[in-house]
Amino acid sequence: MSPGPMAPPFNEDTLSDTFAQRFSQAQDKTLARILAAVVTHLHEVIREVRPTPADWQKAIAFLTEVGHACDERRQEWVLLSDLVGASALVEEINSRRPKSATPNTVRGPFFRADAPSLPIGSDISLDGVGERLDVSARVEDLDGHAIANAEVTTWQANAQGFYENQQPDLQPEFNLRGVFRTDNDGRFHYRTVKPAGYRVPDDGPVGKLLDAAGYPLRRPAHLHFVIKAAGFATIATHVYDRNDPHLCEDAIFGVKPELVGDFEQINADGMPGWRLDFTFVMARAKQGADT
Ligand code: BEZ
Ligand code: FE
Repeated sequence: MSPGPMAPPFNEDTLSDTFAQRFSQAQDKTLARILAAVVTHLHEVIREVRPTPADWQKAIAFLTEVGHACDERRQEWVLLSDLVGASALVEEINSRRPKSATPNTVRGPFFRADAPSLPIGSDISLDGVGERLDVSARVEDLDGHAIANAEVTTWQANAQGFYENQQPDLQPEFNLRGVFRTDNDGRFHYRTVKPAGYRVPDDGPVGKLLDAAGYPLRRPAHLHFVIKAAGFATIATHVYDRNDPHLCEDAIFGVKPELVGDFEQINADGMPGWRLDFTFVMARAKQGADT
C-alpha cells in the first residue's frame, strides 16, 4: 500500500513504503534497491517478532560484540554469515557450474593468503602430531585434460580440530597450510595429518548465541582447497571425510555429494596411515566474470 504524498512519515504499516520512496532520487539505483529490500525485510522481522526496546538493545549489543571480536586472526562477521547459511546461499547463487565441475563451498574464517609455496611432496604438518595422511590429487578440465601449473592452496584443522591461527601459542605458524603447483599431468601430492572434525568457534558472540539457541555447531572433518588456473573459474572448496558421523549435519551447509572423499587406511613403509585420492574438475571462466 502506498502512503501517498501527505502521509505522516511514520506508521507501522506504511513505514517500509515510505523508507523505499525516500530513495526515489538515488543516483545509484542498485544500492537503493538493495537497501530498500534489506530494510523492508528487517521491518517485517520486527513486526513479526515484536521485540521490546530492551530486546532490541540486546540485539544491538550482540552486533557490537561481533565487531569487537574481529581482529587479524579472527573474523566473527564471516562466522555469522557462515552459520546462518548466508555464505552458502551467496556461493550457490553465484557459482552455478556444469554438473561435472567441482562445486564451490564456503571458504570459512581460517584462510590465510600468506601461506608458504612448497614443492610437491612436502609435509605440511610442521609438528608431526596426528595420523599420517597422504593426499594425492589431479586437477583437470571438463574433458579430463590435465591442468598444469594450477595454484593449489590448502589448509586444514589438526588432529584435534583446531587451525593454526586459532592456536598461535600451541601450533607452529603455517602449520597444515601450503601452496602447491600442479605438474604437467595436473597432479600434486603432499603429506599431512588426518584432520578431525570440530565445533565451530563457540567462544565468541556468534557461537555463544547459536549454542544458547540449541543450534548444532559441528563441522565434519575436511581439507580446504582454493585452486586457481588461468582461464578457469577458481575453485574454493572442501573435501570431506566420508566416514565422519557428522557429514549430514554440517553447521554451515558446506557438504555436497561431489565433495565427499574416501580416506583409505594404508600401511606405507611399515607406517600405518591414511590416503586420499581426489580429482578436481575446473570449468572455464565465463567471459568478464570474476575468476
Ligand atoms: C571452516 O571450515 O574452516 C569454517 C567454515 C565456517 C565457519 C567456521 C569454520
Ligand atoms: Fe574448516
